[in-house]
Amino acid sequence: MELNNLLYSVDPDGIAIITLNRPEQLNALSMAVVSELEQVFLRAQSDDTVRGIILTGAGEKAFAAGADISEFKGMNAGDGEQFARNGQAVFSTIEQTAKPVVAAVNGYALGGGCELAMACHLRVASENAKFGQPEVSLGLIPGYGGTQRLPRLVGRGIAIEFLLTGNQVSAQRAYEIGLVNAVASPDALLAVAKELVTTIASKAPIAVAKVLEATRAANLPQDEGMTCEATLFGQCCATDDFGEGVDAFLNRRKPSFTGR
Ligand code: COA
Repeated sequence: MELNNLLYSVDPDGIAIITLNRPEQLNALSMAVVSELEQVFLRAQSDDTVRGIILTGAGEKAFAAGADISEFKGMNAGDGEQFARNGQAVFSTIEQTAKPVVAAVNGYALGGGCELAMACHLRVASENAKFGQPEVSLGLIPGYGGTQRLPRLVGRGIAIEFLLTGNQVSAQRAYEIGLVNAVASPDALLAVAKELVTTIASKAPIAVAKVLEATRAANLPQDEGMTCEATLFGQCCATDDFGEGVDAFLNRRKPSFTGR
């Protein structure tokens, strides 16, 4: 796997760190970046040694300042629709990862950068991070899922304000509206993200994957979501880790999960 725009490593604790690595362009999401993101997420998903994933940006200024605007020039309606569908598919791949994905937002998360953070399961922001969907200033709307994920995360009223004004909001405001799970100092950002992902990675892996799947079904009508929940609950009952978790609790010991 040749990567020209991302860094990828797996630390000794099995946490994959994916770093957007175009700091001079504020980690703008060119089509090549999006394609590499798909490759690394599929790789992290299929690597049994990986227990969780942190996605962050290189440099001190940006997580990602959006899609690469230089690639927009001359785009017609058909190109634009294809562009959006492609990005949506990759971001859905990220969202459907069966291992916890935490965005460590180290600066600007604008446009596609904000959409990318929202495709992750959890978001930790550094105090200097800024969030926004400025596409209307370019005569556009978000195309990588922003009009769908933002209302689901923060409610339609606040989402519409974001989407229509294009204003940037602080990490603190993002925390208050539920867009991010935690705020950390820039120096502590990766450590806080790692603590979060490591806590989740210590739980039963199949149960973690099923929570992620079940909560995706929260977008369905409630009765369909309930059916999905019951099915997934039943599937958990068929795992070794379910037996281990219950036995460990009853015998007052720490569980040892195997992911089976
Ligand atoms: N696409 C392509 N290049 C981008 C970019 C993007 N989305 N965002 C920043 N860059 C590039 C700039 O062109 C500049 O390149 P240069 O040094 O070759 O001129 C470099 O990154 C630094 O950006 P600059 O604008 O000089 O930094 P700043 O600190 O003055 O402003 C931002 C930072 C994030 C406010 C500003 O870059 C910006 O508004 N970016 C676009 C955000 C946006 O609209 N995103 C949604 C796209 S759909």
